[in-house]
Parts: sequence; C-alpha cells; structure tokens
Amino acid sequence: MDEVKKGLEGVVVDESRVCKVDGEEGKIWYAGYDMDDLARYSSYEELLFLLWNDRLPSADELDEIRGEMQERRSLPDGVADLIDREAARTGPMDLLRTSVSALASYDDTPNDLDDPTDRSLGVIAKMPTIIARAHRARQGDDPVEPRDDLGHAENFLYTLHGEEPTAEEASAMDSTFILYAEHGMNASTFSACVTASTLANVYSSLTSAVGTLQGPLHGGATETVIEMLEEVGDPSRASEYVEEKVSNKEKIPGFGHRVYETVDPRCAHFKRHIEELNPDSELLAVADAVREEVEVRLGDKGIWPNTDLYAGALYRELGVPTPFYTTLFSASRAAGWSAHVAEQLDDNRIMRPRVKFVGETGREYVPVDER
Ligand code: CMC
Repeated sequence: MDEVKKGLEGVVVDESRVCKVDGEEGKIWYAGYDMDDLARYSSYEELLFLLWNDRLPSADELDEIRGEMQERRSLPDGVADLIDREAARTGPMDLLRTSVSALASYDDTPNDLDDPTDRSLGVIAKMPTIIARAHRARQGDDPVEPRDDLGHAENFLYTLHGEEPTAEEASAMDSTFILYAEHGMNASTFSACVTASTLANVYSSLTSAVGTLQGPLHGGATETVIEMLEEVGDPSRASEYVEEKVSNKEKIPGFGHRVYETVDPRCAHFKRHIEELNPDSELLAVADAVREEVEVRLGDKGIWPNTDLYAGALYRELGVPTPFYTTLFSASRAAGWSAHVAEQLDDNRIMRPRVKFVGETGREYVPVDER
C-alpha cells in the first residue's frame, strides 16, 4: 500500500486514446496512426484535428481548422505590449509562460470549460506569434504581423524572419511541430492534466505545462544538447567527451528515456530534414559521433538517443536562435497537452496522490522564547 513509486515510474494514471508510445519497438501511434506517416505526409493543423477528434478530418474540416488558426493568430495589444516590454530581460520560456497565462485576461469567459479544445486552439494559434515577436523584440527588430494566407509552420518562419521560407524549410518546420506534438503521459502533459483535474481553466492548464517543459530533463534538453555539441566542437573529440562523462557518472543530454528501450523513432525524421537542408551540418556530424560513442559505452545499459539529440540542429538550420528551442517544443506539444486536458475534463476526477510520511509525530511545541 505504501510502496513509493519515485518519479511515478510505472504508475498508470488514466486511460487515453490520444497516443501510444511503444518503447520496446520504438514506435509512436498518434490516435492510432503511425507517427512516421504523419511526420512525412500530414500537417500540424491536421494533427490537431486528429488528436482532438480521434479521426482524420475531411477536406472541408481541414480547411475549417486552418481558417480558424489563421484568424486567431494575432495577439491582443496587452500581450503584444507585455512581450515588447519584457523580452530583453526575460528568458524566452519565462516570457512564453507569462504570455500564455496573460491570454486569459483577453477572454470574456476564461473559466468556461464547455469547449476546451476551442479555447486551446486560440492559444495554440498564438504561441508561434508570441515566440517570433519575443525573438524580434530581443533583437530590437519591429514585429512582423502574422499572415492569414500561410500554414501554421510557414507563418511562424515568416513572422520570425520577416520573409517567406522556402517550401523545404516550411515542410521541415511543419514536421518539427508534428514530431513534438504529442508523447503520451510525459511530465508536462501530466502537469496540464493535474491542473485541469481541479477544474481550473484551460489557460492555467497550459501555463502549468509550459512551466514543466522548461527543465533540462524534459524540453529544456533541446538547448542543453546544443551546448553539449558546441562543447564537443568536432567529431574527433566525441570519444574523449563521452569517456569523461561516463567516468564522472554525468548524464549526457539527448540520451536516455523512461519509456524507450531503443532509439527514439523521431530521431530519424529530425536527421532527414537536417540532411535535406544542409548535408554538411557540423552539429549533425558531432551529434552522430557522440551517438556512436554513447551506443558503444552505454548501449548495454539501455541508454539510447532521444529526440532532443537532433532537434536543436534542425532548429538551427531553420534560423531559430538557441534560447528559443524549448519555446518551439512547447508550441508543438500544446497539441498533446490540449488533447489530454480535453480527455481529462470529459471524465474528470481530481488528481490527489499521497506521500509516504517518514517524519516524526507527537513533537511538543515549545514557544520561541523558550527554545
Ligand atoms: N547519460 C548517461 N547516463 C544516463 C543518461 C544519460 N543521458 N540517462 C540516464 N542515464 C543513466 C542514469 O545515470 C542511471 O544510471 P544508474 O542506474 O547507474 O544510476 C540510469 O541511466 C537511469 O537513469 P534515470 O535518470 O533514473 O532515468 P529516468 O527515467 O528517471 O530519466 C531522463 C529519464 C530522460 C530524465 C534521463 O535519461 C536524462 O536525464 N537524460 C538526459 C536529459 C535529456 O536528454 N532529456 C530529454 C528527454 S526526451 C524528451 C523529453 O521528454 O523532453
């Protein structure tokens, strides 16, 4: 009864139809569809519909969700001002979290839980606008207003750089949104569900999730991986680096996972896009060299590359500055957060685990002047 499951390992908190992560086979199924197919042929908008409705949209339904996303991209003035004012001194993830939270102020009925995916859509449509505006404000550049004739990923790159991306870049960006969109009951999704389970509003649930994704053991690894690759610097240094980490018993960013017993299947897609955009990517060469060394030294311990090993190298090819990598992971994963929040609200029971008390009882209170 009182067995402690540290890190909640192996604890099954609920049922879900959103995603199956098969850690043994290295497969991900989004609402029953193979992630490999969706990463190649689908779009983020289609994936949102799929995760929210448990089926693929018709052509009309897809047009409709695209139109909704396009219409709801612009930021309320108050949030735009907040970003412009705070971007220079606030970390991108802190600013994204605060901005998502602030969106509640511009909803006349933020506590309405009747249609949680519609409220989430309003946030998800705006997250890339927040990120692009924050980046430009940090650089002292004027914001680029979103367009209502571009797809979600294409529009993000347009607002980030002020020019339309190539078809290859837009497709790679869309793929990153899909690859990070959902991954079962991970830490940030659980955080969103815990908040939703109290019947707090959708803004609170999504804000909790952004905060939870920030850490380097979760989404923040997209950035620490890049620091690691830059520290290694050259493929010839990979062996020395890994040896040092292993002998110091330090963790190597971009490796290891609670669920996978093999390579994370998303790695191949990130790699494919980097190779398409820049076959000479130095970061990719270093990442591959580190991967080889880790597989030799830690493979028998079940330490395999996770998706964050390659994500940053692709973001770099797309011109996204390193401090913004985790914000993009958030903008993608908001799909999964919102789908799980909707499931939670559909059949809710408040999350309330217990903790095994290992302290003392019966201690006598002594007033401060007698201690
Ligand atoms: N490098 C070296 N050894 C590792 C690594 C690693 N990256 N990850 C786990 N190990 C070892 C760890 O030292 C421990 O060894 P021992 O049993 O001898 O003490 C064993 O493997 C189990 O590790 P754990 O930390 O108990 O495993 P966990 O399931 O609690 O943590 C993890 C999973 C992803 C937090 C962890 O593997 C890690 O810290 N990896 C590096 C950070 C990272 O890449 N995070 C991104 C995760 S994937 C995307 C996402 O979810 O955001």
